[in-house]
Amino acid sequence: MSSVSRPVNSDQSGPHPDLAVRVERHRRSGFLRPTHGASAAAFAQARTWLAARSGVPVVLDTGCGTGTSSHTLAHQHPETAVIGIDKSAVRLARGATDDAPDNLLLLQANLLDFYPLARAAGWQASAQYLLYPNPWPKAAQLNKRWHGSPIFPDLIALGGTLELRSNWRVYVDEMRLALSSFDVVATVERFEPVTPLTRFEAKYAASGHALWRLQADLCHAAATFG
Ligand SMILES: C[S@@+](CC[C@H](N)C(=O)[O-])C[C@H]1O[C@@H](n2cnc3c(N)ncnc32)[C@H](O)[C@@H]1O
Repeated sequence: MSSVSRPVNSDQSGPHPDLAVRVERHRRSGFLRPTHGASAAAFAQARTWLAARSGVPVVLDTGCGTGTSSHTLAHQHPETAVIGIDKSAVRLARGATDDAPDNLLLLQANLLDFYPLARAAGWQASAQYLLYPNPWPKAAQLNKRWHGSPIFPDLIALGGTLELRSNWRVYVDEMRLALSSFDVVATVERFEPVTPLTRFEAKYAASGHALWRLQADLCHAAATFG
């Protein structure tokens, strides 16, 4: 990965005007699409892995890339079961090591499948991390951002704390607004990482980008809307 990155370039300077309507539509309708077989197999693997750790708090690191953050979280919180999920086999392979901690599972799966499967199975996470999701910066790409996507209600239903990090302020502001549709109050702050948690965080910090962090507690919304 190159060490210099350009800031996000978008035709949006603020939250998308259709965001509230889009979130409400997804909240009411749910997401109906056939589950991809590979993701279903990955989910089954995660269930088996978790069954052997019954009662342990579950931490989801979604879109984990190489899994750098998943490793760190697993080391920092040995009392939890950390599941890092990414659709890219190439990225996951790039971060593979022989010394993965016992409380870490890295999975290749499409989150568009994984979130609904986890919700249907009644999972409750203790924490969810969305670290530097693809920004999909064109206004027409709103539905590809997690808060504009049909699986957003599934993400909410999984509960726990949510931490989103991005180098695009609009993304975190939109997430904050989308969460407010579920009566979730989120905080947004600019921060400077002392030790970058992910490869993208390291790259953006080295490139001088402003980094933004959103934090929220989804527990009440998960109980109400889940
Ligand atoms: C910009 S990278 C960030 C990776 C990592 N979190 C980091 O900060 O280094 C976004 C990641 O999200 C993954 N991703 C995007 N859409 C996904 C989906 N539908 N299911 C699973 N992973 C997805 C991509 O493969 C990519 O690795």
